[in-house]
Amino acid sequence: MATTSKTKNNTLKLKFDTSWNYAPAPESKSIAAIKDKYDLFINGAFVKSSSKKHFKTINPANEEVLSEVADANATDVDKAVKAARTAYDKVWKKMSGKERGKYIYRIARMVQERAREFAVIETLDGGKPIRESRDFDVPTAANHFFYYAGWADKLEYAFPNRKAEPIGVAGQIIPWNFPLLMAAWKIAPALATGNTVVLKPAETTPLTALKLAEIIQEADLPPGVVNIITGAGATGAALVNHPGVDKIAFTGSTDVGKIIQRAIAGTNKKATLELGGKAANIIFEDAPLDQAVEGVINGIFFNQGHVCCAGSRLYVQESVYKTVLRKLKDRIETLIVGDPLDKNTDIGAINSKQQLETIHKYIKIGQQEGAEMHQSSCALPGKGFFCRPTLFTNVAQSSRIAQEEIFGPVLTIQTFRTEDEVIEKANNTPYGLSAGVWTDKGSKIFNMTTKMRAGVVWANTFNKFDPTSPFGGYKESGYGREGGLHGLSAYVNLI
Ligand code: NAI
Ligand code: MG
Repeated sequence: MATTSKTKNNTLKLKFDTSWNYAPAPESKSIAAIKDKYDLFINGAFVKSSSKKHFKTINPANEEVLSEVADANATDVDKAVKAARTAYDKVWKKMSGKERGKYIYRIARMVQERAREFAVIETLDGGKPIRESRDFDVPTAANHFFYYAGWADKLEYAFPNRKAEPIGVAGQIIPWNFPLLMAAWKIAPALATGNTVVLKPAETTPLTALKLAEIIQEADLPPGVVNIITGAGATGAALVNHPGVDKIAFTGSTDVGKIIQRAIAGTNKKATLELGGKAANIIFEDAPLDQAVEGVINGIFFNQGHVCCAGSRLYVQESVYKTVLRKLKDRIETLIVGDPLDKNTDIGAINSKQQLETIHKYIKIGQQEGAEMHQSSCALPGKGFFCRPTLFTNVAQSSRIAQEEIFGPVLTIQTFRTEDEVIEKANNTPYGLSAGVWTDKGSKIFNMTTKMRAGVVWANTFNKFDPTSPFGGYKESGYGREGGLHGLSAYVNLI
């Protein structure tokens, strides 16, 4: 709650009374049917892994075990790829686009019907606030299936005067920050264009992909068209290196992206890689400052900064720096960090202990580098992996916290005077996935968007997504685009 008081020089000062708390409003867990154990989804059925091993997936908000999932080895990967190949040759590539579309629509509708269950499981398994999974992840995942279902029988219009042929078997490896949404981004365009799929979710967040497998089974998709196998890096590597895979679609760290690139060099495998980011969010003095501050908060703190396109570097024009900094400090003080299942929570749990350690490491590096740190004063839950929203000022352009991806609720703040100066600073990273510009002037927006080397540039908004619009990066942020028509073309050979 905010109150005002007069300061010495008689200006009004906003004070936030942090003792005023929202009553807890937890979403019910009862809707989430999570099995104690999951097997691998291969050829339309849940089958035991040949490794006979399982690994645990926990709820990062309380460290409790949610389920044990099968750890697929090379033999399991081989079975899944063979199932996908047979389904491709015998059924899926021969099926008309109209028929394929019907199946994808069916999946879209079923995701929509079970949206609440998906949202709760996503939040339990990954730690993101229920508000995010309920309002963004799950509806956007359903929208991707709807959107690509619509293209399945219209490929001749998507690629006029060309014949679009499927590539074959796609090996898809996804990360833990948007587990269901990334699965939808990858599966929907692949199926629409006639490819079959072996998908591997991340080891800390496999549950919504396994739920999706149940839906795919209920939707009566021909066996083998979509196979979902669980495991960690070794399972992913076995999929990448399998000779029966024609295309790799990967989202994750730049380091693993580079390993994949090396592994497929000299083969006929195609690849799209969506890797890290270090997005600049730029506030000009003529911007609507309150909206801009809210956009910055949304861009880095909601979802714990676990977003590859998170606006992790803020550049503020000198003349409004003090005002923006004060507004940001006030605003982070009001952010609610805690139980991800609570509908009021802004910042949920960090996805894993390992990721929390990485974030702490960077916070320490920032302090050692001489930057000034400011954190909100909120209390953190006793159990689970949590991190306070953190601001760094006095940051040098060359400092590691301004150059490297932290993937947590940590924002660096720097100032600038001119457009040219901020363009140079914004582009001065190894990444180029996204950026944001806040200004009242359309001409400035056009100037900035053409000069910034980023796949997506948002103007007076941030982190907006739509299935029709392509997404992807420059430089070390990867190559290839997902979403929109561009996302379709990544799954076809044009003849
Ligand atoms: P990661 O890149 O290791 O994991 C992503 C996926 O790749 C997971 O499914 C994992 O099992 C798989 N994988 C791991 N090693 C593999 C290999 N050798 N071959 C094939 N697949 C492999 O990411 P991690 O370690 O979980 O996170 C580390 C950092 O990566 C984060 O701190 C963040 O900076 C970045 N990251 C970026 C993401 C993005 O959306 N661009 C998503 C997740 C992490
Ligand atoms: Mg988990």
